[in-house]
Amino acid sequence: MELPFAESYKIKMVEPIRRSTRQEREQWIKEAKYNLFNLPSNQVYIDLLTDSGTGAMSDRQWSAIMLGDESYAGASSYFNLKNAIRNILGFDYIMPTHQGRAAENVLFSVLVKEGDYIPGNSHFDTTKGHIEFRRAHAVDCTIDEAADTELIHPFKGNVDPQKLDNFLKEHSQRVPFVIVTITNNTAGGQPVSMKNLREVREICNRYGKLLVFDSARFAENAYFIKTREEGYAHKSIKEIVREMFSYADAMTMSSKKDAIVNIGGFIAMRDQELWRQCSKFNIMFEGYVTYGGMSGRDMNALAVGLDEGTEFDYLETRIKQVEYLGNRLDEFGIPYQKPAGGHAIFVDANKVLPNIPREQFRAQTLAIELYLEAGVRGVEIGTLLADRDPETRENRYPKLELLRLAIPRRTYTNNHMDVVAVALKNVYDRRNQITKGLEIVWEAPIMRHFTVELKPAE
Ligand code: F0G
Repeated sequence: MELPFAESYKIKMVEPIRRSTRQEREQWIKEAKYNLFNLPSNQVYIDLLTDSGTGAMSDRQWSAIMLGDESYAGASSYFNLKNAIRNILGFDYIMPTHQGRAAENVLFSVLVKEGDYIPGNSHFDTTKGHIEFRRAHAVDCTIDEAADTELIHPFKGNVDPQKLDNFLKEHSQRVPFVIVTITNNTAGGQPVSMKNLREVREICNRYGKLLVFDSARFAENAYFIKTREEGYAHKSIKEIVREMFSYADAMTMSSKKDAIVNIGGFIAMRDQELWRQCSKFNIMFEGYVTYGGMSGRDMNALAVGLDEGTEFDYLETRIKQVEYLGNRLDEFGIPYQKPAGGHAIFVDANKVLPNIPREQFRAQTLAIELYLEAGVRGVEIGTLLADRDPETRENRYPKLELLRLAIPRRTYTNNHMDVVAVALKNVYDRRNQITKGLEIVWEAPIMRHFTVELKPAE
């Protein structure tokens, strides 16, 4: 008999979590204004709000923490990080930042001007926020296949080269760079193929444009290239990662994802002049160029995390857990973005709750129902997140209305995944009784989903 698959690690430290009653949760969600971000974490049983900064560090990472060098300038921890980035990702110039959006802030302070266009695949919300804040525009050139959740495509995160080329043909003058997000979080944690990265590089060369990777989940992307793309099965993850980044001029990184640390980020690039320009903003916004808002111990843990996060065994454990949850949902016929993504399952709320008017936030309604059912916290990736058009102030209705169940790295077991799947099945079974969504009571002018206050629709 073939041996079953099991995790590539064992557990040395645990953190208790607690179940609650439906009655408690009804009270809590009301107090939280129907916004899951407002819930104190002890009111959550299984927390799938994000995979960002929520992973479990290894014994190797914790021991690296003890060796952190807290010197203001030139700490050994900085050089450990610099060496890891050079060896694993292949960039010579680096700048630590406190997290991914800070890396965007610093790099875009140099590169983005009012009226610019930044094309790419789906931009993450902070990326788009930093572009729109500078009165520039994010242009989504993701392949159309990404919008059909039932369609199986191995690289649903890809950039459509034709769309990108057409856009550049007309607007090249106002495009400072192209950005590719690996994996494509907004489209469902979907990967971008090596072939696609190569094609985008060629297009950038033709128009003389820089290519930047938003690299939060680059290692998961490499796993999909290894397991799905012809010619890569026998390459190691680290070899694949080196080839991926060979096509980029610069990268921004949220280390809280694939580098498996609780806080941190960085920018890396090939051009010393760009590094010099960024250093001014890094010193103003983040900290001196050799720490950029990170403590020495955290840079040490990050250097180790980059190494562990690009090991095949770890990635296989991780991505098989996401797939496991997807398979359980298949058993119950629950529609989600297929195939399962690298870090999360994205449930298709348009298909689960089609009777709720889209003005009443279908995916948010589903997220609230799942919380009430079992204390599971997911996050809306839909109309609330898409926010209003900065000029017309009208709601933007994205093609997809998704409930994201993001799975923290090395944190939960498949028993937890079973609870999530059955809770969702129970909601799915009573979906026809859910006829009313939510309405906004208060919202912020930008990135409203974090702080929005809602109430059940009348
Ligand atoms: N880029 C991508 C693709 C992301 O998913 C995120 C964060 C960022 C940039 C910003 O990084 O949080 O370190 O400032 N995503 C988290 C999420 C918040 O839940 O998907 P950050």
